Amino acid sequence: MNNPSENLYSEFYEDKTGAIILVTRYVPEERENLIKMYEEFDSERKCCGLPPNTRKGIEAWIDYLDEKGYGFIGKLGEKVIGHIAAVPENGEAEFAIFVHQDYEDRGIGSELIRFASKFLKEKGIKKLKAMTESTNRRAIETYRHLGFEVVSRDPQHLYLEKEL
Ligand SMILES: CC(C)(COP(=O)(O)OP(=O)(O)OC[C@H]1O[C@@H](n2cnc3c(N)ncnc32)[C@H](O)[C@@H]1OP(=O)(O)O)[C@@H](O)C(=O)NCCC(=O)NCCS
Repeated sequence: MNNPSENLYSEFYEDKTGAIILVTRYVPEERENLIKMYEEFDSERKCCGLPPNTRKGIEAWIDYLDEKGYGFIGKLGEKVIGHIAAVPENGEAEFAIFVHQDYEDRGIGSELIRFASKFLKEKGIKKLKAMTESTNRRAIETYRHLGFEVVSRDPQHLYLEKEL
């Protein structure tokens, strides 16, 4: 879902180490940089089976998310270090978020969620939804600090939501 006029949405953010991160819409020109981030992604940190294991799988997943929803990335120089993708349906949007292992706990995940929320609210989205594994303390804390509430759970997963 790319509209060239919307690609101007960008912000600079100073992370907890003082590095300046560009937060911006994902555009197809960044596809190769994003694939690289996912190819390097620590397989121990996968969530709900994502990102996919192979380059082909990563490409198909990224292209699906880009076609069906809105993507946002964090960049340090030319390197993509974080990605959030939100797929809207009936005024709500479910998102998935990934921050490269070398850059986690620096506030980048939270910043990507804030940035995406602002954009999605302007698009008329009323509610953000996330799913994560019940053992994923870092993701759960990140969501909770941003005001998400647990709305349901099963033995493996937590489902969280936030009104925009
Ligand atoms: C979950 C993820 C997106 C968070 O991104 P991030 O950039 O590290 O997030 P932030 O730095 O903004 O926030 C992390 C928070 O978790 C807290 N945290 C870190 N490790 C923790 C732990 N083991 N237990 C509890 N809280 C923890 C941090 O203190 C921080 O809270 P703070 O903002 O109050 O300091 C990132 O870690 C990631 O990509 N994980 C692997 C993939 C994944 O799980 N994706 C989400 C589900 S789809």
